[in-house]
Amino acid sequence: MKQITNVVDLLSFIELVKRKNKTIGFVPTMGSLHEGHDSLLRKCQNENDISIVSIYVNPSQFNCSNDFKNYPRNLDLDIKRLNKLNCDIVFSPSNYEISKIKDLEINLNLGNLDKLLEAEKRPGHFKGVTGIVSKLFKIIHPNKAYFGEKDLQQLLIIKKLSYQYFKDIKIISCETVRTSNGLAKSSRNKNLNSEEKLIAGVIYKVLNEVKKNKLIWNIKKAKEFVNSSFKKISLMNLEYFEVINSEKFSFIQETYTSRDCYAVIAVNIKNTRLIDNLKL
Ligand code: PAJ
Repeated sequence: MKQITNVVDLLSFIELVKRKNKTIGFVPTMGSLHEGHDSLLRKCQNENDISIVSIYVNPSQFNCSNDFKNYPRNLDLDIKRLNKLNCDIVFSPSNYEISKIKDLEINLNLGNLDKLLEAEKRPGHFKGVTGIVSKLFKIIHPNKAYFGEKDLQQLLIIKKLSYQYFKDIKIISCETVRTSNGLAKSSRNKNLNSEEKLIAGVIYKVLNEVKKNKLIWNIKKAKEFVNSSFKKISLMNLEYFEVINSEKFSFIQETYTSRDCYAVIAVNIKNTRLIDNLKL
């Protein structure tokens, strides 16, 4: 595996690959890699000649400076991990290298995706995400790029970004990887102690319970159930629970038996914010 830290080197590598008519798969990450990231890379390797993983903790997508400061970072371990997985290229630029890439003038038509849930709770977050992803897409221009369903709203927004500005980059969605108790793998889990990780398994259990009862419960009942489940656990604070239609990205108010329904949730355990979702 080759580590590239500057844009000029990356561009010349990519030119070489494209001249040989090889396909490029791209997995953007913020590092502190775990099995969720591994699964994206594996899919990428299966579907492309060359795999590029980027590791960049993007300051512009953090709306809280403490969150940025506390975000787990471990570049050396990440590089060892990617090496073992036979990744071809890791691109780990500095802020300066990223600042050298000119911003793309993007004006995405996102509708509710830019208003509800994560967009509402983390103002500016998705502007930061689309900003960095469009810069990376602009220089790498992969054939396919891989994103996790765990960050459903991000995935839907990136699909819009590709549809409006990068039509020839295919966005591949990848299933959420979980620990044995159902907790979705996340870099932020590193901030939890073992007791907290164990308790956090409740998030997935609750989502599954909602799914199991989708023919019996209406939304009000589902919300009551979720609220009362988290009230019982003093360590956890429910930030939101909603059932959405992923096509329109709108809240479902009554029953939720139609297609494209997802239960989406955000929970805080002390200062660690966890999000998850389940297709119903
Ligand atoms: P990061 O949180 O590092 O996630 C990188 C990719 O891994 C995202 O597409 C995310 O959805 C996916 N992922 C995370 N946990 C996963 C899990 N348990 N199962 C499957 N996939 C999972 O998301 C970001 O970074 C950033 O916002 C980024 C897109 C890199 C832009 O800075």
